[in-house]
Amino acid sequence: MLKRINSTLCAILITILVTSCGSKSEKTVEEAPSLRNSYAIDFLIGTALNSGQIDEQDSIQSALIAKEFNCYTAENIMKSMHIHPAKDTFNFEAPDKLFALAEKNGAKVHGHTLIWHSQLSRFFYEIKDSTEMVSAMTDHINTIAGRYAGKLISWDVVNEAVEGDGSLRKSVFLDVLGEDYLALSFKLAAVADPEADLYYNDYSMTGEAKRNGVIRMVKKIQESGAKIDGIGMQGHWHLNSPTLAEIETSILEYAALGVKVAITELDIDVLPNPKNVEGADISQRAEISAQNNPYTNGLPDSVSVALAKRYEDIFALFLKHKNVISRVTFWGVNDGDSWKNNFPAAGRTNYPLVFDRDNKGKKAYESLLALKALKE
Ligand code: G3I
Repeated sequence: MLKRINSTLCAILITILVTSCGSKSEKTVEEAPSLRNSYAIDFLIGTALNSGQIDEQDSIQSALIAKEFNCYTAENIMKSMHIHPAKDTFNFEAPDKLFALAEKNGAKVHGHTLIWHSQLSRFFYEIKDSTEMVSAMTDHINTIAGRYAGKLISWDVVNEAVEGDGSLRKSVFLDVLGEDYLALSFKLAAVADPEADLYYNDYSMTGEAKRNGVIRMVKKIQESGAKIDGIGMQGHWHLNSPTLAEIETSILEYAALGVKVAITELDIDVLPNPKNVEGADISQRAEISAQNNPYTNGLPDSVSVALAKRYEDIFALFLKHKNVISRVTFWGVNDGDSWKNNFPAAGRTNYPLVFDRDNKGKKAYESLLALKALKE
């Protein structure tokens, strides 16, 4: 009995000590400022992970990923050429690891992507017959979305199906099935995973002609009776374009369709823009030159400040519309990982994210934490 009273007293004492003197260290563990904690009540904070990150090859970066992000998207390994490389072959090893990592870190998974003209498995190109195409799409979507049903929160069901002028992009799916392939994709995904939110995802979503084309397409999908839950606006943006007004109009017009809006694939290009390339049309290439690659020895302070201001402004806008925004996903973890070092010109040194090449938070990161602290 005395022993039990003693141990109870001891526990009370430890609690008092921890809460009086030790509270600082507890706070460090539970409430360390991070993007995922700061924006927890607003929207998910996501990142795209490459294979090395999924394999946790770099322990410092792994800790950063766990701390800062609560939703993961595979940057490449769930695209058809990787996950379904041949008609009867599926590769689930790497995606399964992504799900295990997410579970370990208490993060969600967003699936990218089921039907996309790019990084497409070769066998799809050989299909000329509509029955065969329906059967191949059914197998593809059923097998992949079915495997992860109940484990992920949402899918990019169709990716990048609309051109800049609002017309439908030419692809093997459009060639063989006509525009019915769009509604079909959503119907198949809804059957394979009835719980997941189903998104249409694309870049350059703030241009008026493209926006109108996407809205027309989504309305047709809705009229067909298919379930479409969201629109993903890839945020492959620049320091000065698109304007905040263009972003806001687009968020509102998409949300007016009765769907959620996600800001996906966010990165802000700080380099000179050869050929005024917008978005992520990878057929648009440019040559690297000293003029378009000026920051090989580090980012000047003035540009760091401009980037921080740009991130702050767009996040202030996202917070303003948080009632319709489900998720904001950065396309990569740190500047060194970003595809923007190779697009539109290969081999440049770009700085589009909020963590630097040493996984340290940049001014842009500080500005996002400060923005939330200010609003509380
Ligand atoms: O893995 C190989 C490596 O073995 C090889 O040595 C190297 C040589 O080039 O290539 C590596 O593959 C590259 C792969 O990224 C992984 O780094 C591919 O060439 C390269 O094409 C591929 O680029 C990806 C791109 O999609 C392809 O379209 C980017 O990482 C990825 O960030 C990018 O993501 C897309 C979204 O899925 C859709 N929206 C646009 C966005 C940016 O293009």
